[in-house]
Amino acid sequence: MILVTGGAGYIGSHTVVELLEEESAVIVYDNMSNSSEKSLERVTEITGKNVPFVLGDVLDEKKLSSVFSEFNITAVIHFAGLKEIAESVVNPLRYYENNVYGTQVLLRVMAAHNVKRLIFSSSATVYGDPAETPIREDFPTGATTNAYGTSKYMVERILADVCRSDASWSIISLRYFNPVGAHSSGLIGENPSKVPANLLPYITQVAVGRLKELKVFGNDYPTHDGTGVRDYIHVVDLALGHLKALNQMSSTTGYQVFNLGTGEKYSVLDMIKAFEKASGKTIPYRIEARRPGDIAECYADPALAKKVLGWSAQRGIDAMMKDAWNWQSRNPNGF
Ligand code: NAD
Ligand code: UFG
Repeated sequence: MILVTGGAGYIGSHTVVELLEEESAVIVYDNMSNSSEKSLERVTEITGKNVPFVLGDVLDEKKLSSVFSEFNITAVIHFAGLKEIAESVVNPLRYYENNVYGTQVLLRVMAAHNVKRLIFSSSATVYGDPAETPIREDFPTGATTNAYGTSKYMVERILADVCRSDASWSIISLRYFNPVGAHSSGLIGENPSKVPANLLPYITQVAVGRLKELKVFGNDYPTHDGTGVRDYIHVVDLALGHLKALNQMSSTTGYQVFNLGTGEKYSVLDMIKAFEKASGKTIPYRIEARRPGDIAECYADPALAKKVLGWSAQRGIDAMMKDAWNWQSRNPNGF
């Protein structure tokens, strides 16, 4: 049975769908700090399968440990974490406690129950502002620009040390680029509890009339149209990357790191155009100053994941936009 921490969240719920579709047994452990049980009900609606769920915090060592005692856990996918960059700058201790110490608690509980297979949700943010693009896994990490990014970097260091200390561990960090889109059913998707900080949920909320206009953060970057360039990846492709990683780790030990991106690059203006094409809606926007901490360009070299995991993204920008809009238009106020 696979333990999915944070499995009620955006990426977690999509991954649980794919795990259930391939007949894997899962159990979700989530404190619902940034999600609702509705997402798991919708997972059941999509798959026709019940989702075993324990309401709990990864910081609660006793409760987490009881889940390992009760169920036959063989591997863990660890999504549980806080992810708001701006909030992490204001409240870094909360981020280190939840993301770094939370992972330490999880590792301790896993070791105590002799479960030594783990997939960790890392982020392209560990690369900081890369000297060149596309970004490969062997590029320098650690020159992060916010506490969120630093928390991901710190966890990666801890995971590498754990694997060095005991050769029976098998741990994979997946460095996600920019996850967008939703399940094609439109039943689950990204459900930000506040005004979205990320581009696509902001655009979809403008399209349903919840927000007035998009602010484009800077048009003077050294990119093809001056706006920031990113590697957007469909959340279902991302979910499937976890299944490939689980497969691969059943025959290996040690610490491995993979980029999960498409290798394709789109600017903010490209994204607006692609969304307008998919939705038939017009997105009013205004150019504003650069957002502090943003970089000009960030996109992956996804070759290693293809070679070692046999994974590559299959869904292009049109599917990302169509599915994001399908989710938002069916659920204008989220779950
Ligand atoms: P999300 O907020 O939708 O999901 C995270 C889930 O973890 C939520 O359901 C939340 O309730 C739960 N959670 C948080 N702290 C917890 C704790 N202490 N104990 C138990 N549950 C807890 O976020 P997401 O977009 O699905 O991201 C999943 C993971 O991927 C996170 O670790 C995030 O940092 C990482 N990541 C996300 C992105 C992105 O842009 N979405 C990019 C790179 C990496
Ligand atoms: N942008 C706007 N207006 C907005 C929001 C974003 O113009 O309202 C622009 C940004 O300036 C950037 C691009 O859209 O050029 C993407 O911004 P996002 O906030 O959607 O994503 P980021 O690339 O800043 O960060 C995301 C996640 C991080 C993760 C990182 C990895 O939020 O958690 O991708 O690359 F670490």
